[in-house]
Amino acid sequence: MAPAEGPRPPLHADSIAVGHGYDPADAWGAAKPPIVLASTYVYSSARAAKELHQAFFDGPAKAPAGGPIARGFIYSRLGHPNLSMVEARMAALDRAEAAAGFNSGMAAISTLAWAFLRPGQSVVHGRPIYSGSDNLLNTVLADFGIHAEGVAEACEEAAIRSASEAALAKGPLGLFMLESPANPTASITDIALVRRIADEIGARQGRRPLISVDNTFLGPLLQNPMEHGADLCVTSLTKYCGGHSDLLAGSVSGAADLIGRLQSLRVVLGNQMEPFTAWLTLRSLESLAVRTRRACSNAAEVASFLRGHPKVEAVTYLGFLEPGSPARAVYDRQCQGAGSTFSFDLRGGEAEAFRLLDQLQLMKLAVSLGGSETLICHPATTTHYNVPPERRAAGGIRDGTLRLSVGLEHPDDLIADLARGLDAV
Ligand SMILES: Cc1ncc(COP(=O)(O)O)c(C=O)c1O
Repeated sequence: MAPAEGPRPPLHADSIAVGHGYDPADAWGAAKPPIVLASTYVYSSARAAKELHQAFFDGPAKAPAGGPIARGFIYSRLGHPNLSMVEARMAALDRAEAAAGFNSGMAAISTLAWAFLRPGQSVVHGRPIYSGSDNLLNTVLADFGIHAEGVAEACEEAAIRSASEAALAKGPLGLFMLESPANPTASITDIALVRRIADEIGARQGRRPLISVDNTFLGPLLQNPMEHGADLCVTSLTKYCGGHSDLLAGSVSGAADLIGRLQSLRVVLGNQMEPFTAWLTLRSLESLAVRTRRACSNAAEVASFLRGHPKVEAVTYLGFLEPGSPARAVYDRQCQGAGSTFSFDLRGGEAEAFRLLDQLQLMKLAVSLGGSETLICHPATTTHYNVPPERRAAGGIRDGTLRLSVGLEHPDDLIADLARGLDAV
């Protein structure tokens, strides 16, 4: 039968996550990608060596879409087959031209900051924000003369404008570094609104601030920041994309010229993703869609149980955003699901939170999120311990706040475990 004529319809993300970026013809027909551990690659001739180096250092953006193994490799810090496969897959999932893979989410975020910010510039970020990013912005970059301004009501135009003006008063605005939903409260940012404001600021200062969005909490199946105006989508692959709490990796997706700058800087910083981690990431991505769906449905049940419990004051689960509120409108427009990480506030403080945590038998008391197992932690004394109390409070992190990353166990067992913990409060 003759093949059907005309363009093929775009694949669903579920299908991209399974095989995109690997062609068995590149590896003896192996149905699954091999792990290529080589640190260096043999040139076919002296001229070929020169041409490879010319193409790498003087050519266009380093790894635009177009076949991961189509280009030659030189030395694995500059690039290697498993890294190219992950980058092709993440770019396709994030609906971007290209992606750069790193050895952690923080490596991705800090490389982005070094690539696109310069001393004297300012940054606007959401509040709360992952403590590593908070530390980078407010301590490390501050030492390099970069000023950070936080905004807590990131769906409200007046709040974003006022943070932007405060930042502009300190220096040209180089970057909106957003995290949506934000760690640990899952508060969301109106990316399209930030883009409108960034465009106006660009007209004023002669260069539009870039917009990066950390998409770790939802991942590529539930949110595509670039469809709403972001320039760069950051993902800690350690979380939902890795999905099993057994790897550390990160990626940034975006236009090929921006990603090329990150890949060039990565060569100097040496913070590229390693072959085995890249292979594990590819394998994990294959089940991202089914894991995401199950985690989301579990989270909806667990969050409903918590909301109805008398010892719980508030639950930040995105599915509970008030109909008619600005945040709800943004959520409906921007997200395809509520994810499975959120926080809840106990009536009480640290002592009550600790009593609950110490009773749990199924959920694991650990930082991180997005694994197959349910994880719970007390942000004020763990993930956000080194964020000063006033910045924690401004981001809605209280002494009675617990963060929950709902995994793939049976929801009844998770609810029974939480009920036991709450009995002890
Ligand atoms: C939202 C968010 N972004 C980035 C990171 C950093 O990722 P990694 O631990 O892979 O460096 C984390 C880690 O918890 C996070 O929650």
